[in-house]
Amino acid sequence: MHELVLILDYGSQFTQLIARRLREVGCYAEVVPCTTATEEITRREPKALVLSGGPNSLAGGEKQYKADSGLFALGVPVLGICYGQQAMAEALGGTVAEGGNRREFGRASVKVLRDSPLFEGVWRTGESHEVWMSHGDKVQTLPQGFTPIAETGSAVAAMADESRQLYGVQFHPEVVHTPAGTELLRNFALRIARLRGDWTMDSFASESVAAIRGQVGGAGRVLCALSGGVDSAVTAALVHKAIGDRLVCVFVDTGLLRQGERQEVERLFAEGLGLPLRVVDASAQFLSVLDGISDSEDKRKRIGNTFIEVFEREVNQLRGVNSADIDSGTTDSDTISSGDIHSGSTNLGKTSPANIDSERTIANWFLAQGTLYPDVIESVSFHGGPSHTIKSHHNVGGLPERMKLALVEPLRTLFKDEVRALGALLGLPHEFLWRHPFPGPGLAIRIPGVVTADRVTLLQQADAIFLEELRAANLYDQTWQAFAVLLPVRSVGVMGDARSYDEAIALRAVTATDGMTAEAAPLPHAFLNRVATRIVNEVRGINRVVYDITSKPPGTIEWE
Ligand code: XMP
Repeated sequence: MHELVLILDYGSQFTQLIARRLREVGCYAEVVPCTTATEEITRREPKALVLSGGPNSLAGGEKQYKADSGLFALGVPVLGICYGQQAMAEALGGTVAEGGNRREFGRASVKVLRDSPLFEGVWRTGESHEVWMSHGDKVQTLPQGFTPIAETGSAVAAMADESRQLYGVQFHPEVVHTPAGTELLRNFALRIARLRGDWTMDSFASESVAAIRGQVGGAGRVLCALSGGVDSAVTAALVHKAIGDRLVCVFVDTGLLRQGERQEVERLFAEGLGLPLRVVDASAQFLSVLDGISDSEDKRKRIGNTFIEVFEREVNQLRGVNSADIDSGTTDSDTISSGDIHSGSTNLGKTSPANIDSERTIANWFLAQGTLYPDVIESVSFHGGPSHTIKSHHNVGGLPERMKLALVEPLRTLFKDEVRALGALLGLPHEFLWRHPFPGPGLAIRIPGVVTADRVTLLQQADAIFLEELRAANLYDQTWQAFAVLLPVRSVGVMGDARSYDEAIALRAVTATDGMTAEAAPLPHAFLNRVATRIVNEVRGINRVVYDITSKPPGTIEWE
């Protein structure tokens, strides 16, 4: 097992970045809510702790998330960042005060007051260095045993109790705007906490293969739902490495795919992965459950439920069980065993007689999906992550609670760039690894309002032109995601000499590193003109094209 750094999340928007930076220096790090009991933290046997920043204030005595003083007596090094430094100071007998009009947001300069293992080889006493700050409050009095090791004009920028290996920094070493930040985190992890720094993709792959074998057992079978995206493809490759042909890969044609997507996935899968693929055409079923539905969350739920119905039907077919038997409740109880797989698999929603008894899971069958770490963190975060409150997307939230298949999620601890690195290690071709992400609900969430087969076709045509031009102009790899949206609006135009009153398309292209934030891609005007002209000329029924220049936040990447 890898040495572990636990990051206690006090709610900062940068918490995930701490984990990323630590992994970059070869240390495996996980994020847990700051409300996690100290006993649980002890049980995980971390080699070091980091307390993240957070939006709350410890000044003024209001009840806030405080740090348990027991954390600092575990005998492992602790680094408090921003709010984490203040929580550490407060827990150990120091005080925190409001910054008043000396609050610091953005770039700041810190002066190094003393040598410290935290700064070794990076900063020297007397030097000034650029860091990134984001705080109102500050540590007023240091707890006993601590000395300031860096300062800004108005606050303690870093403090240390080197005998107990407790460190606090007011600035954010995890953001790129603190140029030496990663080096400081490396010092904390490797020099102070003496971690080996041996977290690599190679070791992840072999551990993960062993874990999949352990979970699935000698007789288990796994259905891997492929979306055509990189996450599910890497999941399939990994599960295949673990259990060989006990893996069945299924690609569902929802009728909500991009033009030519099904053929493209079949080709990439055969050439890139060399695994057999079952293609299920469920387009009629998806379109029928969406009939008359315009609310985007409703669409997502219906699509999620339909996916599971399709997967369960496939599994039952593969098991040789007639789904009519299951629906009428006559399935042989030998083939469905009660909750014997793992607790996440048995679920709620048991009222429908058409369902298998929901207390039970389908024995020895698992559903593999490419859930990534950002989705997991947002789902467990004590304050609720943005995708909780804004959209119920992503794999974790998207699956209906009544599902009967136990989940295999080997990428649950990885970030997107790590998934790509793992995919490369497993031999997936570049073209597969760098495909744009495509949402599970597909074009349904790119057609605000009611989805019909005709509207899907219209959107597919416009979208295909946009992507074709993007590839031809070598802009595809420079964008994180690019697509067309069919707007629920008609407008007047003039085509030939006649008045038109037709549909409008919005083009969306963004740059991003992980999709959590994004910028509208600065596509050249001449390029956009070319795409707009082609769409209006070639797609009958479209007479207007607009380019969406909203960043995320405040916008989201998808329109729904
Ligand atoms: P937003 O629109 O929230 O999207 O900025 C961020 C990323 O998530 C994708 N997305 C989804 N993926 N199911 C998915 O599997 C969904 O319901 C969903 N909604 C958004 C989006 O395409 C982008 O990559």
